[in-house]
Amino acid sequence: MLVLGIESSCDETAAAVVANGEEILSNVVASQIAIHARYGGVVPELASREHLRKIEPVVNEALTRARVKIRDVDGVAVTEGPGLIGSLLVGLVYGKALARALSKPLVGVNHLEGHIHAVLLENKMGRRAGKVTEEAQLPAVTLVVSGGHTTLFLVKEVRPSANSQSVSLDYKRLGQTRDDAAGEAFDKVAKLLALGYPGGPVIDQLARYGDAQAVDFGRIKMKGNPLDFSFSGVKTAVLYRVRGTSLALEAEERRAWRSTRDNVTNDELRNHCSRATLDLIASFQSAVVQDLVERTLSAGEAARVDSVFVSGGVACNSLLRARFLEASRAQGVNALFPSPGLCSDNAAMIAAAGNCKLQAGQLADANLTAHAAFPLGE
Ligand code: KG4
Ligand code: ZN
Repeated sequence: MLVLGIESSCDETAAAVVANGEEILSNVVASQIAIHARYGGVVPELASREHLRKIEPVVNEALTRARVKIRDVDGVAVTEGPGLIGSLLVGLVYGKALARALSKPLVGVNHLEGHIHAVLLENKMGRRAGKVTEEAQLPAVTLVVSGGHTTLFLVKEVRPSANSQSVSLDYKRLGQTRDDAAGEAFDKVAKLLALGYPGGPVIDQLARYGDAQAVDFGRIKMKGNPLDFSFSGVKTAVLYRVRGTSLALEAEERRAWRSTRDNVTNDELRNHCSRATLDLIASFQSAVVQDLVERTLSAGEAARVDSVFVSGGVACNSLLRARFLEASRAQGVNALFPSPGLCSDNAAMIAAAGNCKLQAGQLADANLTAHAAFPLGE
């Protein structure tokens, strides 16, 4: 079964062709980073205009790279939410029109469901390539951690009958952020310190040169649900350590220097950061990562699962991956991540989730539309 996936929920226009939910034939992502970088964040109006420009060439490129004709595709999967409404509508309407014109089945996919399927897709590809021997085990606790989300789910498999070929996933929401998403906190701290956009990858690189113990942000305390998250406190703590100090002057100098340059390498940027700035970045990253690891593993323990999945753009973070692997091993659970290309927004994950829905017969009708807020699970 060949599924064409289309994703346009934020600032990436993406299309992919996935065979049988386990083999990526193509995975095309047109990033808009260069457009939004000067604003230090995604500008919704610019994002939807850019999606409009890119959607057709990106879908065509995905079909060409997969060496597939559109008539050979067995179904079209589109992201229906959550995300920026103008962005979502571009991909959704394009996919819907394509499916309608070619009389192909259409499925709507929740973006977060896509991130969860990225872990299963990576595992299936690894097994096909002989790189991984074990199948990803469900039920699993899954952390989806990105620029828009920080949510913990308990994911279970549902088979309509014991010998049924089609498998659906059931999602229970265990906790979520009450304010900033973790990736948003990375982006805002990077903006404050004039490190560029998106902030996650650059902080990940620079933090290697700082002392993560230098600033003690303390544990992030949560009243009520202990599996909820909050990152606005640590972000504000960084702001207070910068405002009115030499670090603020240094950030302004960096901003001025950056504005004269088209491209800045991480090494050049590091040379424009004092030790105190590098220490602050490393300590901030460590505090966020520690919180994500601890809450996810404690959710895993409470749910008595053998596996935790971690997906979304922040799951590219090298410290996060190392700490998850170390702590999960100590707890006797398996931690699984997609490879970086499947962690951040892409359409292969949407096609893989769509494959599952197509097999289960969960088809969309002509009323399918986009939703900016679109919770997954109860
Ligand atoms: O999943 P994604 O591509 O888009 C959303 O659905 O939000 O995630 C983008 C987010 C951004 O906030 C970016 O700063 C963060 O993921 N990110 C990282 C890293 N790479 C991307 N955060 C920390 N460390 C990284 N290496
Ligand atoms: Zn995402």
